[in-house]
Amino acid sequence: MGINVALDGPSGAGKSTIAKMAAAKLGFVYVDTGAMYRTIAYSVIRDGIDPADSEKVKAALSGIKIELKNEGTQQVFLNGENVSDLIRTPEISMGASKVSAVPEVRAFLLDLQKDIAKANDIIMDGRDIGTVVLPDAQVKIFLTASAEERANRRFKELQEKGDPSTYEEVLADINQRDYNDTHREIAPLRQAEDAVLVDSSALTLEETADEIIKVIKEKTGKKKERRSRELMPVRPISKSRHYSRIKLVFYTILRYIVMGLYHLYYNIHYEGVENVPKDGGNVFASNHRSYQDPVFIAIHTRVPLSYMAKEELFEQNVLFKRLIIFFGAFPVTRGKGDTAVIDTSIEKLEMGRNLVIFPEGTRSKDGKVGPGKTGVALIAAVAQTKIVPVGIIFEGRLGFRKKVTVRYGEPVLPAEIGVTGTDPKSLKKLKTKIMEDITNLVEGNVN
Ligand code: DC
Repeated sequence: MGINVALDGPSGAGKSTIAKMAAAKLGFVYVDTGAMYRTIAYSVIRDGIDPADSEKVKAALSGIKIELKNEGTQQVFLNGENVSDLIRTPEISMGASKVSAVPEVRAFLLDLQKDIAKANDIIMDGRDIGTVVLPDAQVKIFLTASAEERANRRFKELQEKGDPSTYEEVLADINQRDYNDTHREIAPLRQAEDAVLVDSSALTLEETADEIIKVIKEKTGKKKERRSRELMPVRPISKSRHYSRIKLVFYTILRYIVMGLYHLYYNIHYEGVENVPKDGGNVFASNHRSYQDPVFIAIHTRVPLSYMAKEELFEQNVLFKRLIIFFGAFPVTRGKGDTAVIDTSIEKLEMGRNLVIFPEGTRSKDGKVGPGKTGVALIAAVAQTKIVPVGIIFEGRLGFRKKVTVRYGEPVLPAEIGVTGTDPKSLKKLKTKIMEDITNLVEGNVN
């Protein structure tokens, strides 16, 4: 049997994010049991059954097969269909809370959960893991935070997704789910007697994850530490997933219009255009000079780009927010080793988009290339996809008829330079190569 870590706590305490971070660091498999309840809720709701109607829910179970697969991130399948994204709505959250009160539903999932735990070193999150599913787990943690703080975090998340729920609605939802989860007759949410209590109300994600990793290490000894060397499992993206044709036609028209306008406004030169792959799913790693950079790069990419933009930009007015989201921006909190951002980046690549990354993290005022961060190497190493280096060159500030040169360098595949994993040595090697290529392009040391 592997090492079992049971992580329980109320809705919105950050269990899944924290469990993912801790599992990635420790080399454990993360198991999200909430996703299983959500899948049952999704299935019955889709079939027009009220999730509170326990008789009908019970009867529906025989037609439900749930599988969890680790494809870099945990994916949930309902009768062979990947429902991982479909189960993350407020309606399904509430439905899951209701179906989870049905004893037959809990019994139905119990064996599946126990079997997964037997085979692996796992961090399993849920409500009854320490009390019912894995009463013998070596480590039990109860992660909580005040209802207001949980509602606050959830509200921000929903806002980013463009969900119209108000803070009051989110708080009421959390209170209702807490009540359901702690008052149901079978396996109610409660802290196991031997569980360590961690309150994340006043902690950041990183601090909470560190606290949890500390507890796990203390309880299991140091022997698992060596395995933390691989930061994330390598998951080559599938190049067969192409971008939708209709969207491409629309994008191409838009791209030519922007190209015309930019050539009129700036004195802009492109070099190395032959290096730009014709397909999507590639990483463009560029030096960072201005907010126009994603557009400069996009002018010669035939598939739309996605790029990380600092969180503050999403707090501007709604129109601006919608505009940058339309053009592929997604938020990143600077200075946080946010695994969610890595997951989103990989998702974008999987969707067939190209991904622009500015490894320096911040704009360079004098045009010199600063030190790069490792995120770019991690994303490219996980996805095992091409990295196209880009150099953007202009003097001073951007303005009308300003001379701007954009150079695309030769694409690099991580495996070509021997990078097939995500251990620190490989990531350093890949990052060094990327930063050297960018610097050479910026300084003009290219053939
Ligand atoms: O963790 P979550 O929000 O994805 O869980 C969805 C619902 O499933 C939650 O309201 C309670 C229920 N649940 C449960 O009863 N037991 C578990 N082990 C996990 C989730």
